[in-house]
Amino acid sequence: MAVLEGKKITKEFGGLRAVSEVDFVLNKGEILGLIGPNGAGKTTIINMISGTYPPTRGQVFFKGMDITGYKPYKIGRMGISRTYQIVKPFPGMTVKENVSVGAMFGALGKTLSSRQSIERAEEVLEFVGLEDMSNRRADDLNVASRKRLEIAKALAMGPEVILFDEVMAGLNFSEIDKAVELIQKVRDKGISILVIEHVMRAIKGVSDRIFVLHHGAKIADGKPDDVLADERVIKAYLGRRYKELVQ
Ligand SMILES: Nc1ncnc2c1ncn2[C@@H]1O[C@H](COP(=O)(O)OP(=O)(O)OP(=O)(O)O)[C@@H](O)[C@H]1O
Ligand SMILES: [Mg+2]
Repeated sequence: MAVLEGKKITKEFGGLRAVSEVDFVLNKGEILGLIGPNGAGKTTIINMISGTYPPTRGQVFFKGMDITGYKPYKIGRMGISRTYQIVKPFPGMTVKENVSVGAMFGALGKTLSSRQSIERAEEVLEFVGLEDMSNRRADDLNVASRKRLEIAKALAMGPEVILFDEVMAGLNFSEIDKAVELIQKVRDKGISILVIEHVMRAIKGVSDRIFVLHHGAKIADGKPDDVLADERVIKAYLGRRYKELVQ
């Protein structure tokens, strides 16, 4: 069953068409990878789903309901959370406070008191392995922990869908492996996931399906092994560097 669906979504910024008539489906419980070169339109897709701005044309459906053009707070309340490519913890707040803000603005927010939001934050911090840092200032964390904090904030909202935008950028190999495990653990909770990543090892390991954007258009969609072996994908994105890596 499709939990999230884009139909011919298009985004134009002035004369630039950043995303062009893209169709995609995220099924329930699935991890869908989204890859493509810098500037291909990946983050723009997340921005259109999460309501940062509406598509110029096309529609977004959540569990069959047309949510095109809904505001971000409404989309968050409905059960779609996201992370940001440039992590933005609330400065001066502790890790736990950051995550409890997530809890207050998410799908659970309406029913949670501030005390319950803090309890929820504690649970989520344990789930992502940041419990030892909960009283540290968020801006004191290193990159790997900041990325985990982004994941925790999104999770605290109690979503059915999470959109991850490069949560592994800047991590070393062992941190990437841990991030992959965490994403799988999130899926095991029944959450459906769209994951944007440049780290091929990770995206290949974690995705059930992958779709590829190039200059705003979808050029491939399918099983990871098939997509990563697709000549158009190698030519547009993976290139020789990737061939060398896998051979
Ligand atoms: N708010 C905006 N105003 C104008 N142009 C934008 C805006 N946001 C994105 N763009 C342009 O749209 C195109 C797609 O950008 P986007 O950020 O979606 O790419 P991306 O695939 O996420 O790239 P990266 O891998 O570098 O994160 C780029 O040419 C970018 O410069
Ligand atoms: Mg991006």
